[in-house]
Amino acid sequence: MSNRKAYLTIDGDDTPLELNILESTLGQDVIDVSPLLAKNYFTYDPGYGTTAASESDITYIDGAKGILLHRGYPIEQLAEHSDYLETCYLLLNGELPNAGEKAEFEEIIRMHTMVNRSIESFFHGFRYDAHPMAMLCGVVGALSSFYHDSMDINDPQHRMITAHRLIAKMPTLAAMCHKHFVGQPYMYPDNSLSYSENFLHMMFGTPCDRNKPINPVLAKAMDLIFLLHADHEQNASTSTVRLAGSSGANPFSCISAGIAALWGPAHGGANQAVLEMLKEIGDVKRIDEFVKRAKDKDDPFRLMGFGHRVYKNFDPRAKVMKQTCDEVLGVLGLENDPLLKIAKRLEEIALEDEYFVEKKLYPNVDFYSGIIMKAIGIPSEMFTVIFATGRTVGWISQWNEMLSKPYRIGRPRQLYRGHTAREYPAK
Ligand code: CMC
Repeated sequence: MSNRKAYLTIDGDDTPLELNILESTLGQDVIDVSPLLAKNYFTYDPGYGTTAASESDITYIDGAKGILLHRGYPIEQLAEHSDYLETCYLLLNGELPNAGEKAEFEEIIRMHTMVNRSIESFFHGFRYDAHPMAMLCGVVGALSSFYHDSMDINDPQHRMITAHRLIAKMPTLAAMCHKHFVGQPYMYPDNSLSYSENFLHMMFGTPCDRNKPINPVLAKAMDLIFLLHADHEQNASTSTVRLAGSSGANPFSCISAGIAALWGPAHGGANQAVLEMLKEIGDVKRIDEFVKRAKDKDDPFRLMGFGHRVYKNFDPRAKVMKQTCDEVLGVLGLENDPLLKIAKRLEEIALEDEYFVEKKLYPNVDFYSGIIMKAIGIPSEMFTVIFATGRTVGWISQWNEMLSKPYRIGRPRQLYRGHTAREYPAK
C-alpha cells in the first residue's frame, strides 16, 4: 500500500476524512472509500464505471491505449504464439506452462470432455427450437447437481478440478445445444483431436460421416475466437460470477449466472445481434439509412458490434480478429457474400464517420467474430454460446482467485428514493 492519502471534506465537517490510496501495479490507483460508512454515507456509481469491486492479478486493460494483458502478456502475443488451452493454463495458474506441463494439462482436459449420459435427458426437455443460450444456461446450472456434495469449494484442489471439468465440458455442451437446435444426433467428443478441432467435429460431424476432415484454417480461427474471449477482467458476466460465488454458491451455478449475464446484446449477445442487424440492413444501399438511425438520439437503434465500455481507442482483440476474418473469408471464397459485403462497407463507413470517430466507437471483437462464425457456417443463435465457452476459463479463474483469499459476500448499497415510512391505509 502507498502512503498517499485522499481527503474528502463533507459539508458541515471541520476535519476532512482521510482515505487510503491503494496502489496498482498498472493503471488507476484506487481510493479506499470504506471509512465513509462510519460517516453514514455510501458512494454512488451507477454502472460501476469508477468502482473497483475486487483486487485481481489476472487481466489488465487500458481502454484508452487499447491494451489487454493476461498475467502481463499482451493479447496480440498470446494470439500469435499461444493457443487457447495454453492461455487457459496461464489464466488459471498465473504462468505459462513448460512443454511437460502443457502436455499434462491437455491430457487432463481431454480426460474430462465427456458429460454424464443423463445430461442428454435435460436436452430432451427443451423445445426443439429453444435458444441455445437458454439451454446452455440450464444445463451448466444442472451440472451443479452432479458435482455438489463431493465438492469442497474451500479446497484448492477441488476448485482446480472444477475448472478442468468446466473447460473440458463446455465445448461438448455447446455442441449439444447446437445439435438439439438443428435437430441432429449429438456427437461424442473425439479425444484424438485438438480442443478446437474436437469442437468443430461435435458441431458439424454426424454419425454418418464422423471422420469428416476438419479444415485446419477453420480450427485455428475457432481456437483464436476462444482465446480472444478467454477473459476480460471485471465485465458484467465476470462480476456476476464473482457476486454469485461470494455467497459460497456451487461454481457450476455461478457459471450459469455468468452465462445469463453474458446473453444480453450489450455484452456477449452482441455477436448474434451483429448478424441480425446485417440481415435487417439487407443491402449495401441501405447502410446510410441505418447509420443515420444509429446517430439519431430519438432512435434506440445502435450499430451492433461498435463501441465498448472500456476501449475508447480500439479493441486490441478486434485487430487480431479482423486479420483472421479476412483469412477465413479468403479460404472459404466468401469475399462476395452479400451479408459480409454489408459488414465490410459498414466497417468502412463507421471508421470514417464523424459521429463514430468523435465518440470513439470502433468495431469491437464481436463485430469480426460474428462474421467469422457466419462464414464457418455456425448459426447466429450459437455465437454467444461460443463466447461463453471461451470465457468460461476467465470466469472460473476469477472465481478461484476470489476464493483463494479472504472475501466477503458482495452486497451493494442503494440511494433510496422511495416513500418515507407511512401508515397502512385503514380499510
Ligand atoms: N451505435 C451508436 N451509438 C452508440 C453506440 C453504437 N453502437 N455505442 C455507443 N453509442 C453512443 C451512445 O448513444 C452515447 O452517445 P451520447 O454520448 O450522445 O449519449 C455514447 O456513444 C456513449 O455510449 P454509452 O452507452 O455511454 O457507452 P457505454 O460505455 O455505456 O456502452 C456499449 C458500451 C458496448 C454497451 C455500447 O457501445 C453498445 O451498446 N454497443 C453496441 C453493442 C455491442 O457491440 N456490445 C458488445 C461489446 S464487446 C463484447 C463484450 O466485451 O461484451
